[in-house]
Amino acid sequence: MNMLQRLLAVLVLLLAVAQGASVTENKPPTVIVLPQENTLVHELPLSVVVKVDSNAVDAVKILNASGEKTIDINGSKAIYCKTIALVLGDNTLHIRSYKKGQLIDEQKRHLYVTSPLYSQYKYPPTQYKRQFFHTDRNESLCRSCHDMSVNEKQGIAFIDVKESNCYACHHQLTNEKYAHAPSVNWLCTSCHNGKVGSDNAWQKGRSKFLVSKPVNSLCFSCHKKNAKLWKSYRFRHEPLDSGRCNKCHNSHSTPYKMFVRKPVNSICLGCHKDKRMRVKQRDSDCEGTIKGKECVACHSPHASNKQFFLMDEEERKKLESKQHGRER
Ligand code: HEC
Ligand code: HEC
Ligand code: HEC
Ligand code: HEC
Ligand code: HEC
Ligand code: HEC
Ligand code: HEC
Repeated sequence: MNMLQRLLAVLVLLLAVAQGASVTENKPPTVIVLPQENTLVHELPLSVVVKVDSNAVDAVKILNASGEKTIDINGSKAIYCKTIALVLGDNTLHIRSYKKGQLIDEQKRHLYVTSPLYSQYKYPPTQYKRQFFHTDRNESLCRSCHDMSVNEKQGIAFIDVKESNCYACHHQLTNEKYAHAPSVNWLCTSCHNGKVGSDNAWQKGRSKFLVSKPVNSLCFSCHKKNAKLWKSYRFRHEPLDSGRCNKCHNSHSTPYKMFVRKPVNSICLGCHKDKRMRVKQRDSDCEGTIKGKECVACHSPHASNKQFFLMDEEERKKLESKQHGRER
């Protein structure tokens, strides 16, 4: 290489650097802080956080299958936050920036909501990954405006749940009709204590607020009477015995009593497909879905001393008299 060539090479390099710089100056007027691309989630409410150049943008719209939400950009701050609702399975978020009604920028994010009780959503496509939020690094993006420390006292409900530091960002988790007592009282860390179990040992240290899985020992730490009773029974339902209470129950809130994830019969039929169309047969008294009865009119979902977890009159009345979770 002679002197001239060297000089040229340096010039080319300088030009490239200058161009690079101008590329960053042309960065999009809206930067998506959250969610990350290809995130796998378990709950429907999702936080969207955007950093907006308020000179270039006066409104941001977030669109997905469940609707549209608008954030008005008022010029006084750079970060804007919105909770949106996802749908089960694939979700594409369109994040559109406007100036005086003109679309000036559009970006997309893909997410997947998985659920243990729907065979079609049980095994997410491989590009979706669990991406935990609650690490020091991520939280530092929000601390200037949100207090993210734990301010609950073990076993003592908040007088006003808005006082919980978790409420500001997660308030939509407990909005469904039937809700679980520790969740409506915002005692979140009674379950989300950061510990892991044998089923999720690989997640150790990835988030401050993990739950240990399988979840039964967690549930039984409060539901001691149930634990004692069910363990004393001769016949126990497999998903109960293997500790997977959250297959049927959502720990926060759902539209169904006892915050089961789906109407009772569809929960049972999700795993017991053969009972769907069952007509009373000579060798069987199981009525399946016929006569519009609920499976739990005859079967305990958990355990019993009778085979097939059949309940006697007294056990059935007891189950029916339960509060069914807090109705709101
Ligand atoms: C510049 C200050 C600021 C920063 C930084 C900030 N937020 Fe917010 N956030 C707010 C304010 C103010 C609200 C109250 C709701 C509103 O926008 O009117 C809020 C509300 C929220 C909500 C509830 C929105 C809704 O629709 O109910 C969520 C979720 C949220 N923030 C998440 C975050 C996360 C996650 C971060 C960090 C990545 C973050 N915020 C960083 C100021 C901020
Ligand atoms: C500034 C907003 C904000 C606050 C305050 C906040 N979270 Fe979160 N949290 C998030 C975001 C964002 C996610 C990612 C999932 C989502 O979009 O909801 C998340 C996810 C989680 C998860 C899933 C695991 C993980 O790390 O991704 C748990 C559990 C959780 N939060 C519990 C809590 C608890 C308990 C508190 C109160 C001590 C709390 N959060 C306070 C914003 C917040
Ligand atoms: C009774 C135990 C329990 C309580 C109380 C509880 N959670 Fe959860 N939460 C769970 C379990 C278990 C999961 C995991 C979802 C699954 O697989 O069922 C979960 C999942 C979550 C997720 C979604 C994480 C993901 O995988 O995307 C968030 C966010 C969350 N919880 C926040 C909270 C907040 C905030 C509170 C307080 C209002 C709370 N939880 C109270 C048990 C609990
Ligand atoms: C921090 C304590 C605590 C933990 C942990 C806990 N629960 Fe609860 N749960 C309660 C309280 C308190 C109630 C309401 C009191 C009552 O009526 O029994 C309740 C009620 C329920 C109910 C409704 C019962 C009824 O009679 O209305 C169900 C179902 C339930 N919990 C399931 C679970 C599952 C599943 C888990 C584990 C994922 C779990 N709980 C973990 C405290 C807890
Ligand atoms: C196969 C699904 C399934 C599994 C697994 C399951 N439950 Fe339930 N659970 C139900 C149904 C269904 C009801 C009753 C709903 C109704 O009556 O409509 C119920 C009711 C309850 C109740 C209130 C009634 C009672 O007998 O006290 C509690 C408490 C409860 N479950 C806790 C748990 C815990 C803890 C686990 C895990 C150890 C668990 N459940 C596992 C489906 C299930
Ligand atoms: C997560 C999957 C799952 C769900 C949901 C589920 N079951 Fe089961 N159930 C099983 C498994 C696994 C077995 C044990 C294997 C077998 O015998 O089929 C079982 C066994 C049974 C048995 C005993 C069968 C026998 O031959 O001994 C009955 C009865 C039963 N379940 C009823 C119900 C009812 C009622 C519901 C709804 C409240 C329900 N199941 C929900 C997975 C599930
Ligand atoms: C009117 C009472 C009744 C209702 C309602 C009922 N069952 Fe049964 N079921 C029985 C009886 C009795 C048995 C005893 C074994 C037999 O005769 O087959 C049984 C047996 C079973 C078995 C184990 C044996 C087998 O045939 O595989 C399963 C699994 C089962 N039922 C699931 C369900 C599901 C799921 C529902 C709701 C869709 C349901 N049952 C509704 C009474 C009922």
